[in-house]
Amino acid sequence: MIMSNTSIKTAPEVWDSDLIRASFPALSRVIKGKKLVYLDCAATSLRPNPVIDAGCDFCRMHDGNPHRGMHALSYEATEVYESSRDDVSRWLDAPSIKSVVITRNATSAINLVAGGLRNKVKKGDNIVVTMMEHHANLIPWQQLCKLTGAELRHIPLTKTGELDISDLSRYIDKNTKVVAVAHVSNVLGTINPIKKISDAAYDAGAYMLVDSAQAVGHMPVSFKKLGVDFLVFSAHKCYGPSGLGFLIAKEEALYALDPTEYGGDMIEYVSFEDSTWADIPHRFEAGTANAQAVASFPETIRFIENIGTDKIRAHEKMIVTYALEKLGVIDGIKILGPLDPAVRGGLVAFTDSLVPPHDMSTVLDMEGVAVRAGHHCAQPLHRLLGIPSSTRASFGVYSTKNDVDELVKAIEIARGFFGRRSQYGT
Ligand SMILES: Cc1ncc(COP(=O)(O)O)c(C=O)c1O
Repeated sequence: MIMSNTSIKTAPEVWDSDLIRASFPALSRVIKGKKLVYLDCAATSLRPNPVIDAGCDFCRMHDGNPHRGMHALSYEATEVYESSRDDVSRWLDAPSIKSVVITRNATSAINLVAGGLRNKVKKGDNIVVTMMEHHANLIPWQQLCKLTGAELRHIPLTKTGELDISDLSRYIDKNTKVVAVAHVSNVLGTINPIKKISDAAYDAGAYMLVDSAQAVGHMPVSFKKLGVDFLVFSAHKCYGPSGLGFLIAKEEALYALDPTEYGGDMIEYVSFEDSTWADIPHRFEAGTANAQAVASFPETIRFIENIGTDKIRAHEKMIVTYALEKLGVIDGIKILGPLDPAVRGGLVAFTDSLVPPHDMSTVLDMEGVAVRAGHHCAQPLHRLLGIPSSTRASFGVYSTKNDVDELVKAIEIARGFFGRRSQYGT
């Protein structure tokens, strides 16, 4: 129904950087007199024209409330909403269309699972996370443990910034209820061995959740191959709209959850005294959804599929390899996480003994280079590494080696600008 002027119609035979970059209007921005170099994909990726157009087209012509009305616009909104769910189910190899819950983002999807298990977890149980989690995959489990008296355990890291899974039985045992692990660390870049961990969770009879916020759209992802019970991600980190995320789950795992939000559209029958719930997945989708965002997600999937996730992963690996080489030779720069690109996603966080991260990011912005500085919502990990914050460059389909060269040039300018030895990161 929604037509867009898709600029990438067919998969290019080779990596056609110019064609891909032409799809992203924001790349034409000039920031402080410099052509934008966007290296903040891990925070939010830019959006290509087909995704922007699909969202606008929905607003312009089909702006009804999904599931709520008996008129053409509401029917159309419902059709778009449910077909988007269907597309996600097919794309990520979900068990069924009922297995796909539409959420606000990855954070709300994890809260939905953690809160939904509040009546299943008790004192004496334990929940296992890792020491590299984003706050989104840490705090909901902390809160669940506080509420229920369960113990929170953390899988530690090796010296190279990978998960130490040499003896998972030290953490995952018969009392483990949930194992929740990042697919790709948003700070270290580490690609974690999810299948190995989910096998251990399965043997222990625990639920396994993978936080694929930094993986979906950046590498091939199959729910079934990962062997997990729950997978979450956000649309805005894979060229999709903001305000939209997904929870994919085994049907039986979804049935085990109690809803955490109540109201319109999630009910079956309501009296003044009590209520019963709609079937999955709708029982987890209380209130009016961000239909415009949902409507543009099929174009997001099409955009990624037209390029191909294998090719995207190969491209990001090539860029990250180049970035590791270029940054690695700068005296005083310390790269966080594994130096082997085979186990690293498309991001590099680092400290510089001369320039603190926030200053670095500010000077880089003056040079038109967008990166992120701070703890990246991973305070405990930074504390473990003995640093308050880091600078992170993160890549996507539009990234080029030239972007990395511009980053390095801007870093040199920042170092010259500061021209003094700070104690930071040394
Ligand atoms: C690994 C990881 N998990 C979860 C999130 C939370 O994503 P959102 O803010 O879209 O919910 C992020 C965001 O940076 C992330 O990097």
